[in-house]
Amino acid sequence: MITLALSKGRIFDDILPLLTAAGIEVLDDPEKSRKLILDTNQPDLRVVLVRATDVPTYVQYGGADLGVVGKDTLLESGSLGLYQPLDLQIAKCRISVAVRQGFDYAAAVKQGSRLRVATKYVAIARDFFATKGVHVDLIKLYGSMELAPLTGLADAIVDLVSTGNTLKANHLVEVETIMDISSHLVVNQTALKLKHEPIRKLIDAFSQTLAQSATA
Ligand code: PRP
Repeated sequence: MITLALSKGRIFDDILPLLTAAGIEVLDDPEKSRKLILDTNQPDLRVVLVRATDVPTYVQYGGADLGVVGKDTLLESGSLGLYQPLDLQIAKCRISVAVRQGFDYAAAVKQGSRLRVATKYVAIARDFFATKGVHVDLIKLYGSMELAPLTGLADAIVDLVSTGNTLKANHLVEVETIMDISSHLVVNQTALKLKHEPIRKLIDAFSQTLAQSATA
C-alpha cells in the first residue's frame, strides 16, 4: 500500500489533474466527506488528508510514503531529510512583505529603525531581513496576519500572496516579494527503497505530465 499525504484546499484541487493524468482517481470528495483516509481507484494507493504544515512530519516518520507540500512549509519547517524529486508547479503563489497603505516602508528600512514584522514564516522572514541587513522584531502569528498592521501590532507582515485580493480588501500593499512558491513532491527515504517500483512509477507519471505541459 502506498500512502500519499495531501492537504485540503488549493493543493488538493491542483494535484487532481496530475493524479488523473497518472490514471488515479480519488473516490471521495474531501469537501463533502469528513473522511481522513480516502480510497482511490488504485487498490494499492490511498490518500490521507493532513494539515499542510503536518505533511513533512507524516512523510518523515513514514505515516505517509509521499506527500505534496508548499515550498513555504518545507523552508519553514526544515526539509527533514526528505527526498524532494519534483517541483509540481502547482498551488503557485509568493511570499511577500506587505504594509498598511501609506506606511513608508522604504524610509523605515533606510532609517535602520527596528521594524516589527508579524508572520507565521518566522524562519523565512528572519533570513530575508538578515540578508538585507534590516533589524526586525519578529512576532509569530498563526493566522490572519493581515490584521497585525491594521491594529498596530506590527509595521509589516510576511505572508503568502496569491491573487492579492486579501491584501487589497484589508488596505495593505505588497512592498517586496521574498520568493516564489509552488508545491513539491516529498518522499520518505525508506519507502523509496522498500516500495521503489510503485513510488518510482508515480514520480515518473508526474514528471511526464509536467514535461508535457511545459512544452504545450
Ligand atoms: C493565504 C494567505 C492569505 C491568502 C492570500 O491564506 O495567508 O491570507 O492566502 O491569498 P490571495 O492573495 O489570493 O488573497 P490561506 O487561504 O492559504 O489560508 P491560511 O490563512 O490558513 O494560510
